[in-house]
Amino acid sequence: MKSFNNKIAVVTGGGTGMGRELVLQLAKEGCSVAMCDVIEENMEETFGLVSKESPDVLVTKHICDVSNEDEVIKFKNEVLAEHNTETINLLFNNAGIGGGASFVTGSREEWEKCFSICWYGVYYCSRAFIPHIVSSEEGHVINTSSVNGFWASLGGNPHTSYSAAKFAVKGFSESLIDDFRLNAPHVGVSVVMPGHIGTSIAINTGKILGGERSEEEWEMVKQNMIKLGAPVHNQSIDQIKQMIQERTDSFAETAPTSSSEAAKVILDGVKENKWRILIGDDAKALDEMVRRDPEGAYNINFEGEKREEIE
Ligand SMILES: NC(=O)c1ccc[n+]([C@@H]2O[C@H](COP(=O)([O-])OP(=O)(O)OC[C@H]3O[C@@H](n4cnc5c(N)ncnc54)[C@H](O)[C@@H]3O)[C@@H](O)[C@H]2O)c1
Repeated sequence: MKSFNNKIAVVTGGGTGMGRELVLQLAKEGCSVAMCDVIEENMEETFGLVSKESPDVLVTKHICDVSNEDEVIKFKNEVLAEHNTETINLLFNNAGIGGGASFVTGSREEWEKCFSICWYGVYYCSRAFIPHIVSSEEGHVINTSSVNGFWASLGGNPHTSYSAAKFAVKGFSESLIDDFRLNAPHVGVSVVMPGHIGTSIAINTGKILGGERSEEEWEMVKQNMIKLGAPVHNQSIDQIKQMIQERTDSFAETAPTSSSEAAKVILDGVKENKWRILIGDDAKALDEMVRRDPEGAYNINFEGEKREEIE
């Protein structure tokens, strides 16, 4: 797709981060947008920004939990009605949260919540919207996976639900390449694999998952940090909590790539019809490392250095 002008796009998770930036940048290029989110105040903020920047472009907002198929079908019906259309050109399956870290010690509820949003969200939205993309003249489906869609680690920290879901998103997207070539050659597909991007995902994940870790779970967090070589033996649980909170708060500030840069990379990739869109030098370096030495892939940390605890 060479231009987004006069097209219609659906963006899931438009409330903050890359979703918000996709909404803003698409509208700037004259593309009508329907966005959804579960955090209403964030979506209202995006709506305020886009209405100011692109007042002449139709942008609609919809409360929808993408992990609930009934809500996704309602969202689709609202989009078709409010945009007065039967066809959609672009679907950005962007909504996601973190979580579901350990399969062994973590909560099953959290594991399934993360998997439902990150995988079933993509699946239900694809089921709902792809028929309307196939019936358009020109379409593209963009699924956001992660570096955790090809490397199931956080440099030693387990990330089991998120990684399982992101591998599924990558596999599904790649399998659509042949499917579209054969059955809908006017539709393209891209899988997006961002590295560390400056967004509110850590804060939003906390809001969406809710709940507080028990003292026992915090003790386990501390023990895992020690196993990974962190010098926290003498830290109290309160100090550990503070450290994790500081990391959550600084997630956006310490990122090498901003969400607006990331959205630009995604949109440029779609225009070039790239099926794989890596975002950031960190993502590119990890991709190369995993391909160069697949057997050693789980012996490295996020910086690509050999992990000390397995020396
Ligand atoms: N930020 C990163 O470093 C990074 C890295 C790799 C992949 N990703 C992926 O990029 C995508 C966008 O994340 P982001 O970093 O911009 O985070 P973000 O939290 O800023 O944006 C995600 C949006 O999705 C919304 N959302 C969450 N659950 C939802 C649900 N059930 N239904 C509808 N909306 C929901 C959130 O409210 C939020 O507005 C996610 O799929 C994420 O997994 C992010």
